[in-house]
Amino acid sequence: MKRVGIVTSGGDAPGMNAVIRAVVRMALPIGLKVIGFQNGYSGLITDQKCPLGLRSVSGIINFGGTILGSRRCEEFKTDKGLKRAQKTLEKNKISGLIVIGGEGSFAGALDLTRLSSINVYGVPCSIDNDVYGTDETVGFDTAVNTALFAIDRIRDTATSHNRVFIIEVMGRKRGFLALSVGLAAGAEKILVPEIKTDLKEVYELLEESRMKGKKSNIIVAAEGVGDMRRIAKKIEKNTGYEVRLSVLGYIQRGGAPTARSRILAGLFGAKVVNLVENERENEVVGILDGKLTSTNLEVVCKNRKPLDLNLLHLAEKLAT
Ligand code: F6P
Repeated sequence: MKRVGIVTSGGDAPGMNAVIRAVVRMALPIGLKVIGFQNGYSGLITDQKCPLGLRSVSGIINFGGTILGSRRCEEFKTDKGLKRAQKTLEKNKISGLIVIGGEGSFAGALDLTRLSSINVYGVPCSIDNDVYGTDETVGFDTAVNTALFAIDRIRDTATSHNRVFIIEVMGRKRGFLALSVGLAAGAEKILVPEIKTDLKEVYELLEESRMKGKKSNIIVAAEGVGDMRRIAKKIEKNTGYEVRLSVLGYIQRGGAPTARSRILAGLFGAKVVNLVENERENEVVGILDGKLTSTNLEVVCKNRKPLDLNLLHLAEKLAT
């Protein structure tokens, strides 16, 4: 019986469990045995594992987090760590490894393919939505909705007090989450790491806003933009507005996945098992223009997914 390994790696994302469930439910009936490696790549290094049966994934479709555990694993970035992981895979007679995670996890997966002859398959699962080769990652929609739920409430205070609110969302390197959340929340300004922040522009926008008689101003900013406390103080000093900062933090990574994240998890799980069955070489599943697809792992790792800057301008126009 062919044995396939599965691991969740990097920052957890809502829908990881739904992917595990989908993989197990699609793989077992076609004669694959599924071994779950625990706690991210560290479980591959130390051979921490558990076999996954049809019933071991019952009742997890609605759970956030990951039943396998996850880690950011520094040792996996070293040759020594990679070799230990390769040995574990050999010892367990794993012929294909499914990595559920984001771009950092796929970079690790690519390093592993350089040492090992087993095929590695990626399932994009991250609240950052920053994986090349897919329009959406599992968990992204959930995080957008979680942040939106919070901002809709913050808007009430912003309007009642005529305040400027800066809402910091996750996204150390990329602004996909900030962009979608900002658009959906009707934010007056969206700040992303991809574009250097021009505070003068923000001051002007707030001045215009005052002249138009707007009662609330929401600025959605990705954490990677910079020190938001400092930015908030500067805006307050230069505009005379009362400015408050709300850092949404880890609530964005947890919770039950939305229907959209769960459905995507099911589609990706089925697609990745199909790749394993056909012994395709090192590919990452994705969805592009509504169609399920897969892209070579190296291509995914070497390319940067573009942020649609037109949407930033649209968001600002819509909030005038
Ligand atoms: O999962 C992605 C992400 O949430 C980023 O947006 C964030 O900057 C980072 O993870 C935080 O990771 P950690 O919890 O490992 O510090």
